[in-house]
Amino acid sequence: MNNARQVQNLALIGFMGTGKSSVGRLVADALHFTFLDTDETIEAKAGKTITDIFAQQGEAAFREMERTLVSELASRTHTVISTGGGLPTNPANLSSLKSHALVVCLWASPETIFEHVRHQQHRPLLKDPDPMGKIRALLAAREPFYRQADVLVNTERRSLREVAQQVVHQFRTATVAQK
Ligand code: S3P
Repeated sequence: MNNARQVQNLALIGFMGTGKSSVGRLVADALHFTFLDTDETIEAKAGKTITDIFAQQGEAAFREMERTLVSELASRTHTVISTGGGLPTNPANLSSLKSHALVVCLWASPETIFEHVRHQQHRPLLKDPDPMGKIRALLAAREPFYRQADVLVNTERRSLREVAQQVVHQFRTATVAQK
């Protein structure tokens, strides 16, 4: 890792349904860090759900809320940041996160993602007549962004706890290296 970087935080990126929020909570517990979920923070700030933000203000407004929040996170320390699946598609968001956090991407196949999200209703982008096709297309379009993470962790056939242990290990290795 670039020596000039001071890794204060850990950011989890990755597609919807890869377990970022659940893993993030476990990792925050293990590291004794604060946990922050960008979707939850945006909902609290806006006073409405992501579904309502998309429906009433549109996706562009939501992306702007994400961008503002990410820029505010640069002053954080000892925080595990779980991000919305589309957040790293804005290069400014990814480079801002990388300036203060180890960026870890959780990876899963389209089939696994579909299994995780099929009974959930809160993701406007997956309200589609062909959710599997939508997942495949979005994942393919986003893969180049996700691959810019410092570390890619495959979540296939691993429990949330195992994934969290792997993430903690990666974080400890990265931060020992910078001391
Ligand atoms: C989105 C993912 C969601 C949420 C919004 C848009 C996306 O977050 O930010 O519905 O563009 O992939 P999760 O990845 O936490 O589901």
